[in-house]
Amino acid sequence: MKVLILGANSAIAKAVAQKLAEKGHELFLASRNLEDLERFAKHLTIKYDAKVSWAKFDATDYDSHSSFLRSVLKRMGEIDWVLLAFGYLGDQDRAVVDFEELKRIVETNYLGALSILTQIVPYMEERGRGVIGAITSVAGDRGRGSNFPYGSAKGGLSIYLSGLRNRLFRKGVKVVDIKPGFVDTPMTEGLDLPRRLVSSPERVAKDIVKAMERGKDVVYIPWYWALIMTIIRLIPEPIFKRLRI
Ligand SMILES: NC(=O)c1ccc[n+]([C@@H]2O[C@H](COP(=O)([O-])OP(=O)(O)OC[C@H]3O[C@@H](n4cnc5c(N)ncnc54)[C@H](OP(=O)(O)O)[C@@H]3O)[C@@H](O)[C@H]2O)c1
Repeated sequence: MKVLILGANSAIAKAVAQKLAEKGHELFLASRNLEDLERFAKHLTIKYDAKVSWAKFDATDYDSHSSFLRSVLKRMGEIDWVLLAFGYLGDQDRAVVDFEELKRIVETNYLGALSILTQIVPYMEERGRGVIGAITSVAGDRGRGSNFPYGSAKGGLSIYLSGLRNRLFRKGVKVVDIKPGFVDTPMTEGLDLPRRLVSSPERVAKDIVKAMERGKDVVYIPWYWALIMTIIRLIPEPIFKRLRI
């Protein structure tokens, strides 16, 4: 299988790439930091004898997305799976009062994803098969005082993916919304998180690969986040607004 990973330098994406390389799949890794990509691609080639290509991809450089996809297809011939793994948490308090920070959060997590999807969707639609996976977040399920700038961008992406899934269903293309809880990666470094609820990138990657292989619709990772978020969504707004979460 041929897999394109966008934001491939992310800790979660790297763990996914390891698992896919181990299974013998061909990979195209794309992210902003080329040096990192090259180092990791070479590691995968040496360790798993995997076929790995790489190229620069910036989610917010919208104008480059069309030629980027063309160059991936030229190299790979075709794409079976696409995984959108790039993301930017940002400074949530600052984003409430600083539009530049908010814009970066929304552009990276939401508009950047939509821009590259508008290039990928016609390709997948015409091909009539394939899997599009995107890592959103449990933060997108309900606006919380502590992270709603990021949560709103991820939530917007989840709604977009839901519509896309509906549209592509009859075309044979699967759309998987991947919602991790807290994961131990550079993104969450220094945050005060409940340790028992923090997962490793490897654990999350295992579930991502399983969900994409099965063509799931929406998947919470680990599974217990589905329960946690059901409870959080059920709290009536007059109570919810009083909570410090
Ligand atoms: N960690 C968590 O607790 C958690 C929870 C839920 C969801 N998520 C989501 O999971 C995904 C992976 O996150 P992670 O925790 O593995 O984060 P991470 O290790 O901090 O990696 C984030 C990656 O995003 C890439 N990136 C940022 N802006 C980009 C842009 N404009 N264009 C292309 N790539 C860009 C960076 O690539 P370069 O290094 O190449 O710049 C970076 O490697 C993200 O979508 C994140 O929002 C994470």
